[in-house]
Amino acid sequence: MAKKKTEKTDICVIGAGYVGLVSGACLAEIGHRVVCVDSDPRKIAMLEKGVMPIYEEGLESLVKRNVKAGRLFFSGSISEGMHHDGHRAAAVFIAVGTPPRPDGSADLSAIEKVAEEIAHSMSGYTVIVEKSTVPVETCEWINKTVLRHNKKNIPFDVASNPEFLREGTAVGDFLKPDRVVLGCPSPQCEAVMRGIYRPMKGATVLVTDVKSAELIKHASNSFLAAKISFINAVANVCEKTGADVEMVAKGMGLDKRIGMSFLKAGIGFGGFCFPKDLEAFYWLSQRKGYDFELLKAVKNINEDAKMWLVKKVQEELWNLEGKTVALLGLAFKPETDDMRFAPSIDIIAELTKLGAKVRAYDPISQENAKKAIKGIYFAKDEYDCLAGADCACLVTEWARFAKLDMKKVMSLLKHPIFIDGRNLYRPEKMRELGFTYRSVGRQ
Ligand SMILES: NC(=O)c1ccc[n+]([C@@H]2O[C@H](COP(=O)([O-])OP(=O)(O)OC[C@H]3O[C@@H](n4cnc5c(N)ncnc54)[C@H](O)[C@@H]3O)[C@@H](O)[C@H]2O)c1
Repeated sequence: MAKKKTEKTDICVIGAGYVGLVSGACLAEIGHRVVCVDSDPRKIAMLEKGVMPIYEEGLESLVKRNVKAGRLFFSGSISEGMHHDGHRAAAVFIAVGTPPRPDGSADLSAIEKVAEEIAHSMSGYTVIVEKSTVPVETCEWINKTVLRHNKKNIPFDVASNPEFLREGTAVGDFLKPDRVVLGCPSPQCEAVMRGIYRPMKGATVLVTDVKSAELIKHASNSFLAAKISFINAVANVCEKTGADVEMVAKGMGLDKRIGMSFLKAGIGFGGFCFPKDLEAFYWLSQRKGYDFELLKAVKNINEDAKMWLVKKVQEELWNLEGKTVALLGLAFKPETDDMRFAPSIDIIAELTKLGAKVRAYDPISQENAKKAIKGIYFAKDEYDCLAGADCACLVTEWARFAKLDMKKVMSLLKHPIFIDGRNLYRPEKMRELGFTYRSVGRQ
C-alpha cells in the first residue's frame, strides 16, 4: 500500500499551451507551488504581464489569482523551472505538443528533447509525468532517454497521467474530472501522484500500470470520435430515408448504455485531439500487427462529413465559379480560439478550389484563422460576413449565431439560402422565414 502524502508539492510543468497552462494553473489552485515553463519566449513574456496566450474561459482570473498568491510562476528554462527560487520540483509534468507526422504517427521529438533536459536538470528523486497525449510505450522511451543522460544516477520514475480536459471548459474539466488516471511504475511514484491529486476531493482516481494509462487516453478519444462518426453515418441514412437524425439520436441516447453525449450530427470533428489521436492509435495498432479497421472507417466518415457542407452548397448554387459563400464560425468548436485541424480549413480549401469566393467570420478564432487560411475575406462581424453572399453556411455553433436577426440575414444575402452544418436552427422556423434551409440528417 502506497504511503499517504498530504503536503503541497513543488511542480514544474513543461509546455504552457492549452493543457500545460490550464494544468499548471489548476494544480496551483489546489495548493501546489507550480512553475510553468515554455520554450516560446513570447508566451512567457505575455504570461508575466498577465496576458493569456490562449482563449479559455476562466483561465485569466485563475492564473492571476495564483500568481498573486505566490503559487504560480513562469520561466523559459527547464532547469530554472525545476529549481525555482530554492524549490526543487518533485514532479515534472511534460505537456508539450505531439503533432501528427505525415504518415499519421505522433511526432514525439519535443517529448524526447524535454526528457533529455529533465535528465540533465534532476538533482533528487523526481517523478516525470507524461501529460501530453502519446502512444503506448512512450513512457518506456522517456525512461530510456532519461537513463542515457542521467550522468549522476539520480533516482526517478516516469508516470503516465493523461489529460481529458476539453477546450472551452478546460478549467472546470481539470478541477472536476470524471476520473484521474495515474499510471505508476512504483509505490514511491504512486505516493507522489496521489499526493498531487489528493486536494481534489471526490475525484475518482484510477491507478493502473503505465501502458494501460497511456492506452486509456488514445482509446477514449478514438471511442468518442467513433460516436461522432457513427451519428454522422446515421444522418446520411436519415437524409436518404426521410428520418430525422435528432429524433434518432434522442431515441438512442435515452438508453443509458448509449447516453446522449457525442451523438450530435454535424460537419465532423476537428481540433488538436481527435483527428491526430485517432491517426496515431491506428498507426500504432498497425505497427504492432493489428489492423484496427474501425478507426479507418471513423476517419473516412469524418472526411465525408466535412465535405457535406460543400456538397450542399453545390446542390443549391450549382457552379461555384464567381459565387460568394459566407461561413459563420471557423474554430473547430465554440468557446475556443483553436484552429488546429478545424473542419473550416478543409471546407474553405475545397470551396476555393471549386472557384467560390469565401467570406468568413469567427468571434474568437479570427486571428489564429488568418495564420491558417489565406485568400479569403475575414469579416468584421456576422452581418458583414453575410453581406452580398450567395448563401450562408454555419460552421461553428457559437451561441451568438443562435441569436442572429434572421430578417436582417435574409436582407443581406443575395439568395435566401442557409446551410446549417451544426443543426443550430429549427427547420420549420427557417422555412417559415422563407429560407431554403438545409441541415444535417433532417428533412
Ligand atoms: N488541447 C487539448 O484540448 C488537449 C486535451 C488533452 C490532451 N492534449 C494533449 O496535450 C498535449 C499538448 O497539447 P496542447 O493543446 O496544450 O498544445 P499547445 O501547442 O497548446 O502547447 C504546447 C506547448 O509546448 C511548448 N513547447 C514545445 N516544445 C517545448 C520545449 N522543448 N520546452 C518547453 N516548451 C515547449 C510550446 O511552445 C507550446 O506552448 C498534446 O499531446 C495534446 O494531444 C490536448
